[in-house]
Amino acid sequence: MAYSDKVLDHYNNPRNVGSLDKGSDKVGTGVVGAPECGDVMKLQIEVEGDTIVDAKFKTFGCGSAIASSSLATEWIKGKTIDEALAINNTQIVAELALPPVKIHCSVLAEDAIKAAVSDFKAKRAEEASKHTEGAQQ
Ligand code: FES
Repeated sequence: MAYSDKVLDHYNNPRNVGSLDKGSDKVGTGVVGAPECGDVMKLQIEVEGDTIVDAKFKTFGCGSAIASSSLATEWIKGKTIDEALAINNTQIVAELALPPVKIHCSVLAEDAIKAAVSDFKAKRAEEASKHTEGAQQ
């Protein structure tokens, strides 16, 4: 199977590989696995207000999964968390020209974005409830 030029570009020069501080209140972490192949993707976002100011990923998986997560981090940087949630795997498939057998690799990236955002939202909700409790004391 031939990879598209865009997949090869992201595979050879992945953007935003690395990790953010998982313990930070501003960082949301999503870790997802693909049942089809056992590949695993970790995607992290750093949020200021409602804007994603940084994103990093680490993917143990195929070339398409690496390219999908690299592209996803590029797309979500500078977006609001709601805009990031609107990204879906079909956009990734189209951009990278993924063949049908590689569609699940793009689903992994969509799921990783959603998991990172929900982790961040859970942290923010927890912080907000701490502050409310503090105010009541
Ligand atoms: Fe499973 Fe690509 S083959 S993530």
